[in-house]
Order: sequence, then C-alpha cells, then structure tokens
Amino acid sequence: MNVHDSEKIAGIFSENGYEESQELRDSNIIVLNTCTIRAKAEQKFSSELGRLKIIKKKNPDLKIAVAGCIAQQKGKSLFKRFPYIDFVFGPNNIDSVHGWINNGSTKGNKRSRRTHTEDNHEYHTKLLPVKREGEVRAWVSIMYGCNNFCAYCVVPYTRGRERSRPGQDIIDEARSLADGGFKEVTLLGQNVNSYGKLSHDNIDFPDLLRKLHEDKKLERIRFVTSHPRDFSDKLIGTMKELPKVCDHMHLPLQSGSDRILKLMNRGYTYNEYKGKIDRLRHALPDVAVTTDIIVGFPGETDEDYQETVSAISEIAFDGIYAFKYSERPDTKALELPDHVDEQVKSMRLQQVLDMQEKITYQKNLKLEGTIVEILVEGPSESDPEKMTGRTGTNKIVHFHGDKNDIAQLIRVRIDEAKLHSLYGEKL
Ligand code: 5AD
Ligand code: SF4
Repeated sequence: MNVHDSEKIAGIFSENGYEESQELRDSNIIVLNTCTIRAKAEQKFSSELGRLKIIKKKNPDLKIAVAGCIAQQKGKSLFKRFPYIDFVFGPNNIDSVHGWINNGSTKGNKRSRRTHTEDNHEYHTKLLPVKREGEVRAWVSIMYGCNNFCAYCVVPYTRGRERSRPGQDIIDEARSLADGGFKEVTLLGQNVNSYGKLSHDNIDFPDLLRKLHEDKKLERIRFVTSHPRDFSDKLIGTMKELPKVCDHMHLPLQSGSDRILKLMNRGYTYNEYKGKIDRLRHALPDVAVTTDIIVGFPGETDEDYQETVSAISEIAFDGIYAFKYSERPDTKALELPDHVDEQVKSMRLQQVLDMQEKITYQKNLKLEGTIVEILVEGPSESDPEKMTGRTGTNKIVHFHGDKNDIAQLIRVRIDEAKLHSLYGEKL
C-alpha cells in the first residue's frame, strides 16, 4: 500500500516537471513516506529522519516532507519534535502535494509549514498521476481505509473509514495500464472482499474481477488483502471461472485460537477459516495460500499459541508473514490484561518461522520436475545471466533467458527448488 502511495507522490512531482535524483544529498526535496503498523516501522522513521537532518544542515534549501501513517497520527506535533520538517501530509491527502508545489513552497528558502491530515471526503474519487516502479506488474488501488477495527491494528485510525473507488475509474486505470504494456495488475485494499459494499455502484468484488477480466491485453489479475470474514463462495466461484485471476490467496489468519481471535475482534473462528480454505482448495486444487500471523497478542497463553502452531501445520500454508504483537497507540488491545513477555514473543516467533520454512521448502520441492507458467519480470537480482518471473501462485522462478522474455508468459520446467525461489529451464 505504501509502495503504491509513494508511486502516486512521485507521480505528482513528475507531472510537475521534477526529476528523481540518484543521491539523497543532491535532492532539493525529500519525502519520507512512513508506516506505523508496528513499532519497528516507527523506529526506522526516527533514524531516517536523523540522517536527513544532517543532509539539511549542509543544504538549508532542502525541503523535507513527511507522508504516510506517522504523518497522519502525529500531525503538527512533528514540527515541534523535528523543526527541520517542512510539510506533513497523511495517506488520504496525497493530492495536497499539488498545492505544496504550486504555491512555490518546494523551492528556495521560502518557509511555509503546512499540515494536511484532515478528512478528505472525496479522496477515493480523485485521479492521481502514478510514476510506476516496473513495466510488467502494476498496483491499482480499489479502496482506501478500513472499518474492521481489529484490536491490535492502527490502520482504521490512520487511513480512516473504508471507501471504494468508483468501478469505472478502476476499469479505466487497468485498461490504460494494459494499453501501456503492463501485463499484470494487483488490486489493493485493506479488505478487498468488502469492495463496493458502501458505495452506490452496485458492483461487488467478484463483479469487479469479472469486468477487469474482459480486458484483452491484461494477462493476470491479483489482489490483496482479503478478510476471512468477508471471503465468499461467490469469490471462490469467480476465481475458478476466470483464468486470468491468479491462483493465489493471501488470507490473514492472525491466530489459531478462537479465544484470541475473539479478543482480536476478527469476526471468525478457526473452523470457519479452515472451512473456507478447504472450499477454496477443493475448487482450485493448485491454489497457493499465504497468511499473516501475530504471536504474543495480549493474553495469549501457551495453549493459545499451540493452537496457532497446529493451525499452521494443519493448513500447510505456502508462506506466512509472522509478527510479534506490537503495541500501537489508540488501539483496543492496549487496554487488555496479560501482555506477553518480549522474550516469550521472540521465542514463539522464531518457532513459527522455523516451522514454516520446512513447510514452504517441502511445497517447493514438490514442484521439481513440473512445468509451470511464469510472467517474466526482468533480470534476476542475484544472477545477471538469469531472468526472473513469477508463477500464478506467486512463486519466484529464475531461468536462463534474455531481455526478449520480459513481459512474456512462458513455460519453464522446474529443475531445482530452494526455500525462497525455484530454478528451471525455459521450454
Ligand atoms: N502488531 C503486530 N502485527 C500487526 N499487524 C497489524 N498490526 C499489528 C500489530 N500491532 C500485522 C497483521 C496484519 C499485517 C499487515 O500486519 O498480521 O495482517
Ligand atoms: Fe487492520 Fe484488521 Fe483493517 Fe486489516 S482488517 S487493516 S488488520 S483493522
């Protein structure tokens, strides 16, 4: 989400004639797009800002803007703590960069501090320019904000209430991407399964997929993130029916314990989650399933944690993102009793990650000798002689190829499986 927001911020600068500098010290403007999902992200922000302070000392004309969720949360108070900041704007006010540029405050030593963290009610209907990072795969926002208020999560407070973009805007954006040579779009939202629920368009998420699927030039459609409570049989049917919708489902479980899921305010039980995965796998036997896990949520006992371990083993995910619970301001979880000791959290996290490594590797090994279709993205970062692409199930494949393969769907025989990627030969 933040990577794509950064593409929008860069898009506005680009549209106004600004160019990207190669070195931070050569820049006239630096925008720090921040995240506050866990405390670690916030620590990164403070240390990055320290670096920028040194650069600004040498170049007093440098303008520093802080964007993203820390900007939203801390607003004006950032100027007090870090007086060298010039501009603060939240994730729903990216369009305010236009104004910052146009009133000349990005240039020279003119000093006019501004903050934009207000409710921007029409943000979801605005069409912003985007400076895309790649040429094959593109992000497309379909909704902003979140109404779920999971007890640990700061997102509803920083990104605000859920709003869906008009369907036609999304379809137009995807069409112009496909016309421009992009082959894959990833639809972005905090809870894509509730797309359209609160708008007047009368199209829901499966309907949106169906409309996007009609685009002849587009080869692949992905989406993140789904919420298990809203993940429907209609969506499973649509995924089965539409070949361009990739066989990959990222469905955050968070915990295997019903007691903890309830405290987290997730709105489903483990059995309900497992039932949905079973139905999905029944409809799409090759589908890859990935998830998010939080260990050490307040009140998580050894028994609760063991239920998460059992869930990971029973479902056998293709991959997981696992995190230690991190205290976030404003959230309900702060008030819960029995916060878990940091050392216990670390131990649980390590165990879960070790366990998943084995599962992921076993799954990858099963692909040795099989033929997969991949969309080629570009040269491999680790080996310049190889090219890299991804399967529909989102597995990374390296193979001997050349520039002509980029943006093509090709077939590859997998010869060797590693933990994080597969190696093969083009057929
Ligand atoms: N602590 C730890 N993990 C968190 N996540 C969100 N908030 C927190 C928190 N306070 C994780 C969830 C979510 C993912 C994007 O980040 O697993 O799905
Ligand atoms: Fe946060 Fe829950 Fe919304 Fe995801 S669904 S963004 S975890 S509140």
